[in-house]
Amino acid sequence: MPAKAVCVINGDAKGTVFFEQQDANSPVKVTGEVLGLSKGQHGFHVHEFGDNTNGCTSAGPHFNPAGKEHGAPTDENRHLGDLGNIEAPGNGPTKVEITDSQITLFGPNSIVGRTIVVHADPDDLGKGGHELSKSTGNAGARLGCGVIGISKS
Ligand code: CU
Ligand code: ZN
Repeated sequence: MPAKAVCVINGDAKGTVFFEQQDANSPVKVTGEVLGLSKGQHGFHVHEFGDNTNGCTSAGPHFNPAGKEHGAPTDENRHLGDLGNIEAPGNGPTKVEITDSQITLFGPNSIVGRTIVVHADPDDLGKGGHELSKSTGNAGARLGCGVIGISKS
C-alpha cells in the first residue's frame, strides 16, 4: 500500500508540501510550493517534534534518530531530516521537488507527526565551517513550519 502525507506550512513562508511513497523500501517523493521566500536557497528540513505550541521553535532540532551529524541529502552521515535546500526564484512560488531515499512514511522512523521547517538562509550542508554547520547547517531563522500529517489517498 502506498503511503501519502501532507504538510501545510505557515508563518512568514507559507505553502503545501505532499509526500508519497510506494512502499517501505521506495524513495519518498516530496512535491509542492512555498510562498514568501526571498530569492536564493533556503534550508528545508524535517525537525523532530510535531509541536508548534511556541511557533516553529517547538519543533526542536533536526530529526536525527541515528545520532549522526548534519549533512547534505546525498551524504550517508546526515540527519534523517536533512532535505537540503529549496531554491526560490524570487519572482514567484518556490517549487519543492525532492526525491529522498532515507526519509520514510513507514515504521518507527516515519516522518509523519514531525515538522517541516523552511529557513531564512541557505543550509551549508555541514560544510560551511561555522560552529552551527554540523548541527543546523547554519540555516538561520525558522520562516515557516507545519506538521506532517497522514493524507487521504
Ligand atoms: Cu531546519
Ligand atoms: Zn540536520
